[in-house]
Amino acid sequence: MTTRPRILTGDTPSGRLHLGHWVGSLENRVRLQADYDCFFLLANMHAFTTRAEAPDDVRRDTLEIVKDWLAAGIDPERSTLVLQTEIPAIAELSWYFAMLLPFNRVMRNPTLKTEIELKDLGDHYSFGFPLYAIGQCADILAFRAELVPVGEDQVAHIEMCREVARRFNWTYCGVDPTTKDEGHPAAGGLFPIPSALVGRVGRLAGTDGKAKMSKSLNNAIFLTDTAKEIKKKMGALYTGRQTMTEPGDVNNALFQYVRAFVKDPARVAELERRYAQGDNIGDGHVKVEVAAAIDELLSPMRGRRAALEGDAGDRRVLEILRAHTVRANAVAEETLRAAKQAMKLDFGVRSLLFP
Ligand code: TRP
Repeated sequence: MTTRPRILTGDTPSGRLHLGHWVGSLENRVRLQADYDCFFLLANMHAFTTRAEAPDDVRRDTLEIVKDWLAAGIDPERSTLVLQTEIPAIAELSWYFAMLLPFNRVMRNPTLKTEIELKDLGDHYSFGFPLYAIGQCADILAFRAELVPVGEDQVAHIEMCREVARRFNWTYCGVDPTTKDEGHPAAGGLFPIPSALVGRVGRLAGTDGKAKMSKSLNNAIFLTDTAKEIKKKMGALYTGRQTMTEPGDVNNALFQYVRAFVKDPARVAELERRYAQGDNIGDGHVKVEVAAAIDELLSPMRGRRAALEGDAGDRRVLEILRAHTVRANAVAEETLRAAKQAMKLDFGVRSLLFP
């Protein structure tokens, strides 16, 4: 077994991954595989909180995300994929954790509130919908992860997870409430207090130039998009600038893309300077350059992804998931056993499924 610190993060299957996922978290995940013991979660149970009536779609989206991950550079030899619905310890821990947070604290979680607005859930969302925020604490803590690479929108969830971890350690592990977060494990706490790690672009604008990039807003460049699609979507990005000599705003969405995807820092600085001065540089030119940079990033992913298409690809994905589920359950069951022991629930009556 390895002693590298653990990472847990993941995605809710809701469609193909896009550039917002890449700069927000995926890029960090690929990089951090070298130094961390990584667990990457498919939050397929969470998908049911808003799509309970669409099991076929949830299943398809779950397998698609695995393909996007592998194509992006997640290495199944080094990292463990966690299929949420196959890890019973997560569901069981969620119940115990639900008792450690006041109901109103959960309902004030800003990420839940925003989601209710964005998805137009009104007051008719399921009971399970807000529960997913507690479930997310269990996702992370079941693996006793120390680091959680996420996009900016998830930081409120990680904060709640930190509260749960502290409270559990105070209540059941005898950790003194004045103990600093870093000191919890040494003070006997079962759970490390995890930190969020936000990617270099926390919130990438969509190709509409306004809202956050998102599949449902139809403003996303997907990791699977072809060179032609990338060019077309970039071309449609509206900045409001009219001529090549008009001083441009380097804080617009187009220049967020320049900084996010053009690799050479000197070229980025030059583009910024000329654009700001209106030095004979059109939006169209900048867009073509950005589209080429994005294509350079995505082209190797498209290649790896092509090898996973069709039935053979599905079989390969299922094979990985089966093997990784065994690994993931070994860790999560060990956590569950320790948590129940701390809660005086170690009756030893049920033998655990996964030793
Ligand atoms: N809520 C996250 C999202 O939709 C997915 C997720 C579920 C997650 N559990 C997690 C992310 C635990 C990080 C850690 O993007």
